[in-house]
Amino acid sequence: MVATVLIVDDEPLNVDLLEQELAAAGYRTLSAANGEEALTVAKALPDLVLLDVMMEGLDGYAVCERLKANDATRTIPVIFLTALTDSFEKVRAFSVGAVDYVTKPFETGELLARVGTHIALRREIEAHRKSRSTIQYLVEEIRSDRDAMVGESPALRHVREQIAQVAPTDSTVLIQGETGTGKELVARAIHELSLRRERPLIKVNCAALPRDLVESELFGHEKGAFTGATQQRRGRFELADGGTLFLDEAGELPLDTQAKLLRVLQEREFDRVGGTRSLRTDVRVIAATNRDLHARVEDGGFRADLYYRLNVFPIVVPPLRERRDDIPGLVRHFVAKAARKLGRTLDGISPAFVERACAYAWPGNIRELENLVERAAIMSRGAVLDAVDLFSSASATASEKTPAVMAGDAMLEAVERAHIQQVLERTRWVIEGERGAARILGLNPSTLRGRLRKLGIRKTS
Ligand SMILES: Nc1ncnc2c1ncn2[C@@H]1O[C@H](COP(=O)(O)OP(=O)(O)OP(=O)(O)O)[C@@H](O)[C@H]1O
Ligand SMILES: [Mg+2]
Repeated sequence: MVATVLIVDDEPLNVDLLEQELAAAGYRTLSAANGEEALTVAKALPDLVLLDVMMEGLDGYAVCERLKANDATRTIPVIFLTALTDSFEKVRAFSVGAVDYVTKPFETGELLARVGTHIALRREIEAHRKSRSTIQYLVEEIRSDRDAMVGESPALRHVREQIAQVAPTDSTVLIQGETGTGKELVARAIHELSLRRERPLIKVNCAALPRDLVESELFGHEKGAFTGATQQRRGRFELADGGTLFLDEAGELPLDTQAKLLRVLQEREFDRVGGTRSLRTDVRVIAATNRDLHARVEDGGFRADLYYRLNVFPIVVPPLRERRDDIPGLVRHFVAKAARKLGRTLDGISPAFVERACAYAWPGNIRELENLVERAAIMSRGAVLDAVDLFSSASATASEKTPAVMAGDAMLEAVERAHIQQVLERTRWVIEGERGAARILGLNPSTLRGRLRKLGIRKTS
């Protein structure tokens, strides 16, 4: 982008000369012959102002002060053109907000270098300011997102109580629960309510790390500890010093790493990989897993001593289907969030949507609900969330039985049951014949009758 320079000088010859030099260097120029005119022309927001000091009427200092007092022109860099060599005058130029000065008679090369530098600098500053405000925005987004733990069901209230109880202590917490139930949210809440909240919460996803990197990731390594360790590196235990370490998917830790983790938990000491001296650390550990850790202990995949060391304060986050009271509130929460994210107005949710949501089994728990609501928001045309067809027909039936665990076969059966029921409704329970359900389903009528018995499908009204 071509930069524009405003030249302010009451000596026309000076203006001409500067215009030529700047134009030759690729700048666009504007000019003003006195202070008043300069303030008017500056409204065009040039990228830089070259400002003569001694002028009739408003002098350079006064012009600069006014430019700096105006929000629109405040950030435009001003370079004084001065015949004065008195350092008092130069200092005064800076005190009214100039970024630089050039003494007359000026040397073209020097002038152009200063102009170029200040324009580039200002562009950098503007870009930085923009990205800082973007970051600020993101931080607020994350914060508002993080704070929200929606739900007033007795089950979730119990979890909240446990969080409040354990947060101010330094005790190790083991959070267990199915995928998407909010384990990470619980971990963050504990950290935020703890005395360590001003210190970092460092997360390690034990399942995402390659086996041979887990230890270096947790404890760091010394230079040359292994091929590729070209530099010393601090591990997460060091980074979390004074704060909280969140070991996500802790059930996936390799057995030999488990032994080392046990040592840190017991002795607050560890060695970097390839290190020769032990380091001390002050870290509060929160572990989470969606596996049944106790069962892992029984089958030898997890050390019993580590299990007991982690399980000082267990918190079990119940699956969504066991706290259905939370569903309407969560739907509203995620509708508002999706509306913000999509820049849409969504001020209602159809009762049918809420009904289906309350009836659905939610095998993916809150994460699934969040994603489904976002999808529904995208698909709903008006300001009311109504994309009920998103719920597979499995949902309604799945809920009737409200199974405690709905996985694998149970899920398949539910889908099958719902599908058959739907077809039967369409054929008004006609099973045989050209338009019968059996034909539509590609089954023998007797086979279909057998399935109906097995799945417990009966004609209702
Ligand atoms: N009670 C809640 N209120 C609002 N949002 C929630 C709640 N619980 C969970 N969430 C949201 O649901 C999503 C999944 O939660 P989170 O990542 O904490 O689950 P998780 O148990 O750690 O899952 P995984 O085992 O798959 O890692 C996140 O976006 C989280 O913010
Ligand atoms: Mg998680």
